[in-house]
Amino acid sequence: MEILMRMSERRGGCFPITLKSEKIYFLSDLEHIRHVLVDKVDDYEKYFEGLKPIFGKAMITIDGALWQKIRKPQQPFFHPKVYEEYYPHLMTAVKTKITQWSDLAASGEEVEILEQTWSLAADMACRALFDREMPFNPQAVFGAVKAYTDTANHKNIRAKKMSGEMSEVGDEEAAAEAISAWLSLPDAVIGAKPLSYRNQTLLKMLQRAEADPEAPEFDHQQVLDEIKQYLWAGTETTALTLGWIFYLLSQHPEVTEKIRREGEEVYGDREPRCEDIQKMTYTRAVMLETLRLYPPAWALMRTATQEDEIGGHKIKPGDKIVLSPYMVHHNPKYWNDPETFDPNRFLPGRIKQRVKYSYLPFGAGKRFCLGGQLSQLETVLALTMLLRRYRLEYLGDVPVKISPTVMLTPKGGFPFRLHALS
Ligand code: HEM
Repeated sequence: MEILMRMSERRGGCFPITLKSEKIYFLSDLEHIRHVLVDKVDDYEKYFEGLKPIFGKAMITIDGALWQKIRKPQQPFFHPKVYEEYYPHLMTAVKTKITQWSDLAASGEEVEILEQTWSLAADMACRALFDREMPFNPQAVFGAVKAYTDTANHKNIRAKKMSGEMSEVGDEEAAAEAISAWLSLPDAVIGAKPLSYRNQTLLKMLQRAEADPEAPEFDHQQVLDEIKQYLWAGTETTALTLGWIFYLLSQHPEVTEKIRREGEEVYGDREPRCEDIQKMTYTRAVMLETLRLYPPAWALMRTATQEDEIGGHKIKPGDKIVLSPYMVHHNPKYWNDPETFDPNRFLPGRIKQRVKYSYLPFGAGKRFCLGGQLSQLETVLALTMLLRRYRLEYLGDVPVKISPTVMLTPKGGFPFRLHALS
């Protein structure tokens, strides 16, 4: 990331790198980002080559009229009016995690917090969207798939090559195993017993669409791929957000105390209700500021389909574009003192002072994240509940080193020890 930041300082908000015959443009200026994500969105396709085995032809990877047909019927399942219905299921997942943490705290063992937050995020998604208890072992599946996606991504964008290092998918057997574990997940979800036989779930909608002759775009493979998309794009992102928050809080105990106090003030000794979560403006601000400093989706990738010009550079069809929320969020042109963790920037009233497109953790334009609001509800709920019961002691290096793979991850993970609060 440092190399990219330095290059953008020296060479401007749109600079190319040529690798073999491929041109890759890195964008970090807001006008260029708006150009690609909004004004000329139809001239830039999603670029997902290395991740095709993981996502197949899911909505997140496709473009044009097909993308519209696939996204439209799924949108209502992410509208805030369905949150009341999801809320008890999210709460059950958090309470399950609280119970699991009680054993981990009692044992005093070291815990990889991302394994914990990833399994929590996956449990929340399975319960709320599919009406299922998570029907697989998250540690085994996500660990394997992550190893694959990280190396596949390196191979693909070859970002590491710039620092003289080259990384390839080394272990083909492990990659094949990871992919086969991953491909079995949608069937496990479909085959698992429904939790409460809700009639209107995202899974039911997908299955009904498959049976509908008027919706040929939803063939069986499409349904499987949509499920995979939610199990990865909808879980690793939330898991990393929680992980980065816990890391930052370990360095800022006063912020942790404020989150606990806000919980006491808003819902006291009872359980928080869905409407309480909306009132927790400070906890939300901590989450938003963390997403500014460490946006899990640090790079959004596109391929040009038409000739174009960006920042004086001639773009040719086939050129690759990397738009970097990380580089925008750390740019002093758009943020005062960008390296400082300051949740107050995101308190109500101050949000309006922000320059448009300077905050992009969920992307922008019509390909904006479908589950962004849901993940915010999940994250604030998990934070307030977990922090009022546990103190998290960070055991890793400070400052943590960033590893920008497909997602923005901590190099070496996030080792923690949990302590139950009396
Ligand atoms: C903190 C959590 C999350 C972050 C940071 C995040 C980030 C993003 C970003 C940046 C994009 C746009 C990618 C691009 O333009 O290339 C995206 C798309 C998407 N996200 Fe999220 N996401 C999060 C959580 C979720 C959740 C919880 C779900 C669903 C359960 C979800 C589902 C999707 C889907 C389906 C798309 C594709 C939308 C489309 O192409 O039309 N995301 N996400």
